[in-house]
Amino acid sequence: MQTHTIALLDGDGIGPEIMAEAVKILRVAESRNGIRLELKHGAFGAGAWFSHGDSFPEATRQLCDRAGAILKGPIGLDHEQTEKIPVDMRPERGALLPLRRRFDTFANFRPVRLAGGLTHFSPLKPEIIAGGIDIMMIRELVGGLYFGAKESGRDDAGRRYVKETLEYDETQIERIARVAFETAQGRKKVLHNIHKSNVLKSSVLWNEVLGEVGGEFPGVEVRHILVDAAATYLCLNPRQFDVMVMENMFGDILSDQAGGILGSLGLMPSACLGPEKAYYEPSHGSAPDIAGKNIANPYSMIGSVAMLLDMSLGLRDEAGHVWQAMRSVFDQGYTTPDLARPGADSKTISTRAFGDLVAEHYAAAPATAS
Ligand code: NAD
Ligand code: IPM
Ligand code: MN
Repeated sequence: MQTHTIALLDGDGIGPEIMAEAVKILRVAESRNGIRLELKHGAFGAGAWFSHGDSFPEATRQLCDRAGAILKGPIGLDHEQTEKIPVDMRPERGALLPLRRRFDTFANFRPVRLAGGLTHFSPLKPEIIAGGIDIMMIRELVGGLYFGAKESGRDDAGRRYVKETLEYDETQIERIARVAFETAQGRKKVLHNIHKSNVLKSSVLWNEVLGEVGGEFPGVEVRHILVDAAATYLCLNPRQFDVMVMENMFGDILSDQAGGILGSLGLMPSACLGPEKAYYEPSHGSAPDIAGKNIANPYSMIGSVAMLLDMSLGLRDEAGHVWQAMRSVFDQGYTTPDLARPGADSKTISTRAFGDLVAEHYAAAPATAS
Protein backbone atom coordinates (compact mmCIF):
# COMPACT_ATOMS: atom_id res chain seq x y z
CA MET A 1 0.00 0.00 0.00
CA GLN A 2 1.32 3.42 -0.93
CA THR A 3 2.32 5.41 2.17
CA HIS A 4 2.74 9.16 2.42
CA THR A 5 4.17 10.80 5.52
CA ILE A 6 2.58 14.14 6.28
CA ALA A 7 3.93 16.39 9.02
CA LEU A 8 1.15 18.11 10.93
CA LEU A 9 2.13 21.34 12.66
CA ASP A 10 -0.96 22.26 14.65
CA GLY A 11 0.31 25.67 15.72
CA ASP A 12 -1.27 28.05 18.20
CA GLY A 13 -4.65 29.57 18.99
CA ILE A 14 -7.30 28.02 16.75
CA GLY A 15 -4.61 25.89 15.09
CA PRO A 16 -5.28 22.60 16.93
CA GLU A 17 -9.07 23.01 16.53
CA ILE A 18 -8.99 23.46 12.77
CA MET A 19 -6.23 20.88 12.37
CA ALA A 20 -8.50 18.27 13.97
CA GLU A 21 -11.04 18.89 11.21
CA ALA A 22 -8.35 18.68 8.53
CA VAL A 23 -7.33 15.28 9.91
CA LYS A 24 -10.90 14.02 9.51
CA ILE A 25 -10.70 14.90 5.82
CA LEU A 26 -7.29 13.27 5.42
CA ARG A 27 -8.67 10.08 6.95
CA VAL A 28 -11.51 10.06 4.45
CA ALA A 29 -9.01 10.62 1.62
CA GLU A 30 -7.02 7.68 2.91
CA SER A 31 -9.91 5.25 2.91
CA ARG A 32 -11.29 6.45 -0.44
CA ASN A 33 -7.96 6.00 -2.19
CA GLY A 34 -6.56 2.85 -0.61
CA ILE A 35 -3.47 4.70 0.55
CA ARG A 36 -1.86 5.09 3.95
CA LEU A 37 -1.29 8.56 5.31
CA GLU A 38 1.19 8.56 8.12
CA LEU A 39 0.23 11.68 10.03
CA LYS A 40 2.88 12.88 12.48
CA HIS A 41 2.36 15.89 14.71
CA GLY A 42 5.27 18.21 15.44
CA ALA A 43 5.57 21.04 17.95
CA PHE A 44 5.77 24.38 16.17
CA GLY A 45 4.99 27.95 17.12
CA ALA A 46 4.59 29.82 20.39
CA GLY A 47 3.42 26.69 22.24
CA ALA A 48 6.64 24.97 21.20
CA TRP A 49 8.64 27.90 22.49
CA PHE A 50 7.01 27.62 25.90
CA SER A 51 7.28 23.81 26.05
CA HIS A 52 10.60 23.23 24.25
CA GLY A 53 12.34 26.61 24.44
CA ASP A 54 12.34 26.67 20.64
CA SER A 55 9.45 27.59 18.35
CA PHE A 56 10.83 25.28 15.63
CA PRO A 57 12.42 22.41 17.61
CA GLU A 58 15.03 20.20 16.00
CA ALA A 59 12.72 17.17 16.17
CA THR A 60 10.12 19.08 14.15
CA ARG A 61 12.73 20.14 11.61
CA GLN A 62 13.67 16.50 11.13
CA LEU A 63 10.04 15.45 10.89
CA CYS A 64 9.47 18.06 8.17
CA ASP A 65 12.62 16.93 6.34
CA ARG A 66 11.33 13.34 6.29
CA ALA A 67 7.74 14.15 5.39
CA GLY A 68 6.47 14.20 1.83
CA ALA A 69 4.34 17.25 2.59
CA ILE A 70 3.64 19.52 5.53
CA LEU A 71 0.27 20.73 6.74
CA LYS A 72 0.55 23.70 9.05
CA GLY A 73 -1.93 25.46 11.27
CA PRO A 74 -1.57 29.14 12.13
CA ILE A 75 1.00 30.22 14.70
CA GLY A 76 1.29 33.24 16.99
CA LEU A 77 -0.27 34.71 20.07
CA ASP A 78 -1.98 37.92 21.01
CA HIS A 79 0.16 40.99 21.50
CA GLU A 80 0.51 40.63 25.27
CA GLN A 81 1.58 36.96 25.20
CA THR A 82 3.90 37.60 22.26
CA GLU A 83 5.81 40.18 24.28
CA LYS A 84 6.84 37.41 26.69
CA ILE A 85 8.99 35.77 24.00
CA PRO A 86 12.34 37.24 22.93
CA VAL A 87 11.91 39.14 19.63
CA ASP A 88 13.87 36.80 17.38
CA MET A 89 12.33 33.67 18.86
CA ARG A 90 8.72 34.68 18.42
CA PRO A 91 7.00 32.12 16.25
CA GLU A 92 6.78 34.25 13.12
CA ARG A 93 10.50 35.01 13.01
CA GLY A 94 11.60 31.91 14.91
CA ALA A 95 9.51 29.23 13.19
CA LEU A 96 7.45 30.31 10.18
CA LEU A 97 10.08 32.25 8.26
CA PRO A 98 12.70 29.55 8.96
CA LEU A 99 10.23 26.93 7.66
CA ARG A 100 9.75 28.92 4.46
CA ARG A 101 13.48 29.39 4.09
CA ARG A 102 14.32 25.75 4.85
CA PHE A 103 12.14 24.45 2.04
CA ASP A 104 12.56 27.51 -0.19
CA THR A 105 8.80 27.70 -0.61
CA PHE A 106 8.87 30.65 -2.97
CA ALA A 107 5.50 30.19 -4.67
CA ASN A 108 2.53 30.92 -2.44
CA PHE A 109 -0.84 30.23 -4.01
CA ARG A 110 -3.72 31.95 -2.23
CA PRO A 111 -7.01 31.19 -3.95
CA VAL A 112 -9.68 33.83 -3.42
CA ARG A 113 -12.91 32.11 -4.31
CA LEU A 114 -16.56 32.63 -3.58
CA ALA A 115 -19.13 30.68 -5.55
CA GLY A 116 -21.89 32.63 -7.28
CA GLY A 117 -24.47 31.26 -4.86
CA LEU A 118 -22.51 32.36 -1.79
CA THR A 119 -22.02 36.04 -2.48
CA HIS A 120 -24.10 36.89 0.59
CA PHE A 121 -21.00 36.06 2.65
CA SER A 122 -19.21 39.04 1.12
CA PRO A 123 -19.51 42.58 2.47
CA LEU A 124 -19.49 43.81 -1.15
CA LYS A 125 -22.76 44.69 -2.87
CA PRO A 126 -24.22 41.71 -4.74
CA GLU A 127 -24.19 43.57 -8.06
CA ILE A 128 -20.40 44.02 -7.82
CA ILE A 129 -19.72 40.32 -7.40
CA ALA A 130 -22.66 38.73 -9.20
CA GLY A 131 -21.37 35.42 -10.55
CA GLY A 132 -18.85 35.08 -7.73
CA ILE A 133 -15.15 35.73 -7.21
CA ASP A 134 -12.37 33.51 -8.52
CA ILE A 135 -8.85 34.90 -8.23
CA MET A 136 -5.55 33.10 -7.80
CA MET A 137 -3.19 35.36 -5.88
CA ILE A 138 0.42 34.32 -6.30
CA ARG A 139 2.74 35.73 -3.69
CA GLU A 140 6.53 35.47 -3.77
CA LEU A 141 7.23 34.03 -0.32
CA VAL A 142 10.94 33.89 0.40
CA GLY A 143 12.33 37.23 -0.73
CA GLY A 144 11.84 40.96 -0.38
CA LEU A 145 11.66 42.83 2.89
CA TYR A 146 10.97 39.67 4.86
CA PHE A 147 14.33 38.11 4.09
CA GLY A 148 16.52 41.11 3.22
CA ALA A 149 19.42 42.33 5.34
CA LYS A 150 18.41 43.97 8.59
CA GLU A 151 20.29 46.05 11.06
CA SER A 152 19.44 48.20 14.01
CA GLY A 153 21.30 50.13 16.63
CA ARG A 154 22.24 53.71 17.40
CA ASP A 155 23.50 56.21 14.89
CA ASP A 156 26.30 58.71 15.46
CA ALA A 157 23.86 61.09 17.12
CA GLY A 158 22.76 58.35 19.53
CA ARG A 159 19.33 57.91 17.93
CA ARG A 160 17.90 54.42 17.68
CA TYR A 161 17.51 53.37 14.05
CA VAL A 162 16.48 50.34 12.06
CA LYS A 163 17.20 49.37 8.48
CA GLU A 164 15.38 46.63 6.55
CA THR A 165 16.18 45.89 2.97
CA LEU A 166 13.89 44.93 0.12
CA GLU A 167 16.08 42.59 -1.87
CA TYR A 168 15.41 40.55 -5.00
CA ASP A 169 17.71 39.12 -7.61
CA GLU A 170 16.64 38.19 -11.10
CA THR A 171 16.58 34.46 -10.42
CA GLN A 172 14.06 34.90 -7.62
CA ILE A 173 11.84 37.05 -9.82
CA GLU A 174 12.18 34.79 -12.81
CA ARG A 175 11.01 31.66 -11.02
CA ILE A 176 7.91 33.25 -9.50
CA ALA A 177 7.11 34.96 -12.81
CA ARG A 178 7.30 31.60 -14.57
CA VAL A 179 4.91 30.05 -12.04
CA ALA A 180 2.52 32.97 -12.55
CA PHE A 181 2.59 32.75 -16.35
CA GLU A 182 2.08 29.00 -16.26
CA THR A 183 -0.89 29.46 -13.94
CA ALA A 184 -2.37 32.19 -16.13
CA GLN A 185 -1.84 30.03 -19.21
CA GLY A 186 -3.92 27.30 -17.59
CA ARG A 187 -6.72 29.73 -16.71
CA LYS A 188 -7.97 32.85 -18.52
CA LYS A 189 -4.59 33.85 -20.00
CA VAL A 190 -4.57 37.22 -18.26
CA LEU A 191 -1.93 38.00 -15.65
CA HIS A 192 -2.20 41.03 -13.40
CA ASN A 193 1.26 42.12 -12.33
CA ILE A 194 1.06 44.06 -9.09
CA HIS A 195 3.99 46.40 -8.46
CA LYS A 196 5.17 49.80 -7.27
CA SER A 197 7.66 50.75 -9.98
CA ASN A 198 6.82 54.44 -9.62
CA VAL A 199 8.79 54.39 -6.37
CA LEU A 200 10.61 51.11 -5.82
CA LYS A 201 13.61 50.04 -7.89
CA SER A 202 12.85 46.49 -6.84
CA SER A 203 9.61 46.77 -8.81
CA VAL A 204 11.50 48.14 -11.84
CA LEU A 205 13.65 45.00 -11.90
CA TRP A 206 10.60 42.85 -11.13
CA ASN A 207 8.77 44.25 -14.16
CA GLU A 208 11.80 43.93 -16.41
CA VAL A 209 12.35 40.27 -15.57
CA LEU A 210 8.62 39.52 -15.70
CA GLY A 211 8.57 41.03 -19.21
CA GLU A 212 11.44 38.77 -20.28
CA VAL A 213 9.73 35.64 -18.94
CA GLY A 214 6.53 36.82 -20.63
CA GLY A 215 8.31 36.45 -23.97
CA GLU A 216 7.97 32.68 -23.48
CA PHE A 217 4.20 33.01 -22.99
CA PRO A 218 2.92 35.01 -25.97
CA GLY A 219 -0.62 33.81 -25.33
CA VAL A 220 -0.81 35.44 -21.89
CA GLU A 221 -1.75 39.11 -21.67
CA VAL A 222 -0.03 41.04 -18.88
CA ARG A 223 -1.79 43.94 -17.21
CA HIS A 224 0.31 46.12 -14.92
CA ILE A 225 -1.32 47.63 -11.86
CA LEU A 226 0.26 49.68 -9.08
CA VAL A 227 -0.28 48.00 -5.75
CA ASP A 228 -2.16 50.88 -4.13
CA ALA A 229 -4.64 51.04 -7.00
CA ALA A 230 -4.96 47.26 -6.94
CA ALA A 231 -6.18 47.50 -3.34
CA THR A 232 -9.01 49.74 -4.50
CA TYR A 233 -9.92 47.59 -7.50
CA LEU A 234 -10.14 44.55 -5.25
CA CYS A 235 -13.06 46.27 -3.54
CA LEU A 236 -14.62 48.05 -6.50
CA ASN A 237 -14.31 45.38 -9.15
CA PRO A 238 -12.63 42.16 -8.01
CA ARG A 239 -14.09 40.27 -10.96
CA GLN A 240 -11.58 41.91 -13.31
CA PHE A 241 -8.84 39.77 -11.73
CA ASP A 242 -7.99 36.18 -12.55
CA VAL A 243 -4.32 35.56 -11.72
CA MET A 244 -2.38 38.19 -9.76
CA VAL A 245 1.35 38.02 -9.01
CA MET A 246 3.25 40.13 -6.53
CA GLU A 247 6.22 40.35 -4.20
CA ASN A 248 6.15 39.11 -0.66
CA MET A 249 4.92 42.08 1.36
CA PHE A 250 2.35 43.22 -1.20
CA GLY A 251 1.01 39.67 -1.23
CA ASP A 252 0.74 39.54 2.54
CA ILE A 253 -1.43 42.63 2.64
CA LEU A 254 -3.54 42.12 -0.47
CA SER A 255 -4.33 38.52 0.40
CA ASP A 256 -5.77 39.51 3.77
CA GLN A 257 -7.80 42.16 1.97
CA ALA A 258 -8.96 39.37 -0.30
CA GLY A 259 -10.18 37.48 2.76
CA GLY A 260 -12.09 40.62 3.64
CA ILE A 261 -13.93 40.79 0.33
CA LEU A 262 -14.88 37.12 0.65
CA GLY A 263 -16.35 37.84 4.06
CA SER A 264 -13.85 36.07 6.33
CA LEU A 265 -10.22 35.14 6.56
CA GLY A 266 -11.57 31.70 7.38
CA LEU A 267 -12.15 31.26 3.64
CA MET A 268 -8.46 31.63 2.75
CA PRO A 269 -6.43 28.42 2.30
CA SER A 270 -2.99 28.41 0.73
CA ALA A 271 -0.21 26.32 -0.72
CA CYS A 272 3.48 27.19 -0.42
CA LEU A 273 5.54 25.41 -3.04
CA GLY A 274 9.28 24.97 -3.14
CA PRO A 275 11.51 23.17 -5.60
CA GLU A 276 11.27 19.89 -3.68
CA LYS A 277 8.68 20.20 -0.99
CA ALA A 278 5.49 22.05 -0.29
CA TYR A 279 3.70 23.05 2.81
CA TYR A 280 0.07 24.06 3.16
CA GLU A 281 -1.50 26.50 5.59
CA PRO A 282 -4.41 28.86 6.01
CA SER A 283 -3.47 32.43 5.06
CA HIS A 284 -4.83 33.75 8.32
CA GLY A 285 -3.40 33.81 11.82
CA SER A 286 -4.14 31.99 15.03
CA ALA A 287 -7.21 34.14 15.79
CA PRO A 288 -6.53 34.46 19.53
CA ASP A 289 -9.85 36.29 19.94
CA ILE A 290 -11.85 33.14 19.18
CA ALA A 291 -9.41 30.34 20.16
CA GLY A 292 -10.69 27.44 22.25
CA LYS A 293 -14.36 28.16 21.58
CA ASN A 294 -15.07 25.66 18.81
CA ILE A 295 -16.28 28.49 16.56
CA ALA A 296 -13.37 28.97 14.13
CA ASN A 297 -14.05 28.32 10.48
CA PRO A 298 -12.04 25.27 9.36
CA TYR A 299 -12.63 25.97 5.63
CA SER A 300 -9.17 27.51 5.17
CA MET A 301 -7.53 24.49 6.80
CA ILE A 302 -9.63 21.94 4.89
CA GLY A 303 -9.04 23.90 1.67
CA SER A 304 -5.33 23.62 2.41
CA VAL A 305 -5.83 19.83 2.63
CA ALA A 306 -7.53 19.94 -0.78
CA MET A 307 -4.51 21.78 -2.17
CA LEU A 308 -2.18 19.21 -0.58
CA LEU A 309 -4.12 16.32 -2.11
CA ASP A 310 -3.91 18.02 -5.50
CA MET A 311 -0.42 19.49 -5.51
CA SER A 312 1.60 17.06 -3.37
CA LEU A 313 -0.25 13.73 -3.76
CA GLY A 314 -1.49 14.20 -7.33
CA LEU A 315 -5.10 13.51 -6.30
CA ARG A 316 -6.71 16.32 -8.26
CA ASP A 317 -10.18 14.79 -8.53
CA GLU A 318 -10.18 14.06 -4.81
CA ALA A 319 -9.32 17.68 -4.15
CA GLY A 320 -12.29 18.63 -6.31
CA HIS A 321 -14.53 16.46 -4.16
CA VAL A 322 -13.28 18.16 -0.99
CA TRP A 323 -14.02 21.63 -2.42
CA GLN A 324 -17.44 20.39 -3.53
CA ALA A 325 -18.14 18.90 -0.08
CA MET A 326 -17.53 22.28 1.55
CA ARG A 327 -19.69 23.93 -1.07
CA SER A 328 -22.49 21.45 -0.35
CA VAL A 329 -22.38 22.25 3.35
CA PHE A 330 -22.76 25.95 2.61
CA ASP A 331 -25.48 25.23 0.05
CA GLN A 332 -27.46 23.49 2.78
CA GLY A 333 -27.46 26.79 4.65
CA TYR A 334 -24.83 25.96 7.28
CA THR A 335 -22.20 28.51 8.23
CA THR A 336 -19.65 29.06 10.95
CA PRO A 337 -20.21 32.20 13.06
CA ASP A 338 -17.70 34.34 11.11
CA LEU A 339 -19.93 34.01 8.04
CA ALA A 340 -23.32 34.35 9.72
CA ARG A 341 -25.00 37.51 8.42
CA PRO A 342 -27.85 39.30 10.13
CA GLY A 343 -31.08 38.52 8.35
CA ALA A 344 -29.53 35.73 6.27
CA ASP A 345 -31.29 32.40 6.42
CA SER A 346 -28.36 30.38 7.77
CA LYS A 347 -27.79 27.75 10.41
CA THR A 348 -24.71 28.56 12.46
CA ILE A 349 -22.63 25.53 13.42
CA SER A 350 -19.41 24.83 15.29
CA THR A 351 -15.95 24.08 13.97
CA ARG A 352 -16.39 20.37 14.69
CA ALA A 353 -19.87 20.17 13.19
CA PHE A 354 -18.66 21.85 10.00
CA GLY A 355 -15.75 19.40 9.75
CA ASP A 356 -18.07 16.43 10.35
CA LEU A 357 -20.46 17.54 7.63
CA VAL A 358 -17.68 18.12 5.12
CA ALA A 359 -16.22 14.70 5.93
CA GLU A 360 -19.64 13.12 5.41
CA HIS A 361 -20.19 14.78 2.05
CA TYR A 362 -16.68 13.95 0.92
CA ALA A 363 -17.05 10.31 1.96
CA ALA A 364 -20.26 10.12 -0.06
CA ALA A 365 -18.73 11.61 -3.24
CA PRO A 366 -18.43 9.31 -6.23
CA ALA A 367 -15.23 7.27 -6.33
CA THR A 368 -12.46 8.74 -8.43
CA ALA A 369 -11.24 6.59 -11.28
CA SER A 370 -7.59 5.79 -10.57
P1 NAD B 1 -5.75 36.63 12.49
O1 NAD B 1 -5.73 36.24 11.06
O2 NAD B 1 -5.38 35.60 13.47
O3 NAD B 1 -7.20 37.19 12.87
C1 NAD B 1 -7.80 38.31 12.22
C2 NAD B 1 -9.32 38.21 12.37
O4 NAD B 1 -9.81 37.15 11.54
C3 NAD B 1 -9.77 37.87 13.79
O5 NAD B 1 -10.95 38.57 14.08
C4 NAD B 1 -10.04 36.39 13.75
O6 NAD B 1 -10.99 35.93 14.67
C5 NAD B 1 -10.53 36.21 12.31
N1 NAD B 1 -10.24 34.86 11.80
C6 NAD B 1 -9.04 34.41 11.35
N2 NAD B 1 -9.14 33.13 11.00
C7 NAD B 1 -10.41 32.75 11.23
C8 NAD B 1 -11.12 31.52 11.06
N3 NAD B 1 -10.54 30.41 10.57
N4 NAD B 1 -12.42 31.49 11.41
C9 NAD B 1 -13.03 32.58 11.89
N5 NAD B 1 -12.43 33.77 12.05
C10 NAD B 1 -11.12 33.85 11.74
O7 NAD B 1 -4.78 37.91 12.60
P2 NAD B 1 -4.14 38.63 13.89
O8 NAD B 1 -5.11 38.64 15.00
O9 NAD B 1 -3.57 39.87 13.36
O10 NAD B 1 -2.92 37.69 14.26
C11 NAD B 1 -2.92 36.75 15.34
C12 NAD B 1 -1.60 36.00 15.33
O11 NAD B 1 -1.49 35.17 14.18
C13 NAD B 1 -0.36 36.90 15.30
O12 NAD B 1 0.58 36.36 16.19
C14 NAD B 1 0.14 36.78 13.87
O13 NAD B 1 1.52 37.00 13.73
C15 NAD B 1 -0.22 35.36 13.57
N6 NAD B 1 -0.34 35.03 12.13
C16 NAD B 1 0.11 33.80 11.74
C17 NAD B 1 -0.06 33.40 10.43
C18 NAD B 1 0.45 32.07 9.98
O14 NAD B 1 0.72 31.19 10.79
N7 NAD B 1 0.60 31.84 8.70
C19 NAD B 1 -0.71 34.23 9.52
C20 NAD B 1 -1.17 35.47 9.96
C21 NAD B 1 -0.99 35.87 11.28
C1 IPM C 1 0.95 35.21 6.41
C2 IPM C 1 1.36 35.76 7.77
C3 IPM C 1 2.87 35.74 7.91
C4 IPM C 1 3.44 36.63 6.82
C5 IPM C 1 3.41 36.16 9.27
C6 IPM C 1 2.76 35.43 10.41
C7 IPM C 1 4.91 36.00 9.34
O1 IPM C 1 0.83 37.03 7.97
O2 IPM C 1 1.29 34.03 6.14
O3 IPM C 1 0.31 35.91 5.65
O4 IPM C 1 3.52 37.86 7.01
O5 IPM C 1 3.82 36.11 5.78
MN1 MN D 1 -0.53 37.66 6.43
